[in-house]
Amino acid sequence: MLLNYDTILLIYKVATLENDILLKIRDLIYHNSGIYFNENKFHLLETRLKKRLEKLEFQSFEQYYDFLQANKHSKEWKELFDIITINESFFFRAPEQLEVLQKYIIPEIIQNKKDNDATVRIWSAGCSTGEEPYSIAITIDEYLKSHYDKVKFQILASDINTTTLKKAKRGLYNNYAVKNLPIEILSKYFTISDNGYMINDNIKNMVRFANINLFDENQVKIAHNVDIIFCENVLIYFDIPSKEKTVALLYDILSPNGYLILGYSESLHGISKDFSLIHFPKVIVYKKT
Ligand SMILES: C[S@@+](CC[C@H](N)C(=O)[O-])C[C@H]1O[C@@H](n2cnc3c(N)ncnc32)[C@H](O)[C@@H]1O
Repeated sequence: MLLNYDTILLIYKVATLENDILLKIRDLIYHNSGIYFNENKFHLLETRLKKRLEKLEFQSFEQYYDFLQANKHSKEWKELFDIITINESFFFRAPEQLEVLQKYIIPEIIQNKKDNDATVRIWSAGCSTGEEPYSIAITIDEYLKSHYDKVKFQILASDINTTTLKKAKRGLYNNYAVKNLPIEILSKYFTISDNGYMINDNIKNMVRFANINLFDENQVKIAHNVDIIFCENVLIYFDIPSKEKTVALLYDILSPNGYLILGYSESLHGISKDFSLIHFPKVIVYKKT
């Protein structure tokens, strides 16, 4: 079938309009979460939004955009964050960091504590399905608790994605999630069944989960006086201005001499000059100065 000029023009106009609205949704997401879809990832956003539109039975991206704009505090925003975030994680993803945490950082923090504050506060910011905070809890239980029996360890774990948080609270994992765990740790801290690997209650009870958007100042302030923040493989989805904003918020809620730990491929180069860079064997961390 041959299309005439007017039909081609109409198709072109509709496609351009749709693309413009998608760009507006992209910007709305960015301004509300810091997550930035550049040209390379734009198609991913489009595919995920199309599925959502079908589910909601919306007729166009424009209708969805108007709905998001008019309902800033609706549940749909949570649904949107759930479908656009990338949540890959596994236990002991960064084993060298956990070793540094256990051997150097936590002992130093405890040593510097005033007598009346025997609590070490750790925050896993962007915890996805819980592998990271539970790995921290296992490390503490395995190597530190018996040496510091008077110290309380508080682990806050948060994410913008409520579906991953539900999975984290449940604590049931597949082979992929536990692939890095030595068998002794697996058998000590998990109950293994046909359903998978269920984290034991003593580790579960060490972690408190919360729905926190790291781009929202008021939500970040829920955490305060934190000694160590793990924010791993989260800022990679942000552009530079949103990284700057989020890192500044994290800086503010860290206690003096507190630590910020990023993913292996991440750095604060060009983002913040407020931290000192501390080198450990195979690991770099940032210290509030
Ligand atoms: C790739 S996962 C990393 C999980 C874990 N930190 C790790 O390294 O294994 C990134 C997580 O960051 C979360 N995230 C992205 N933007 C966020 C934001 N603005 N506030 C809070 N969490 C966010 C995502 O929902 C996702 O679960």
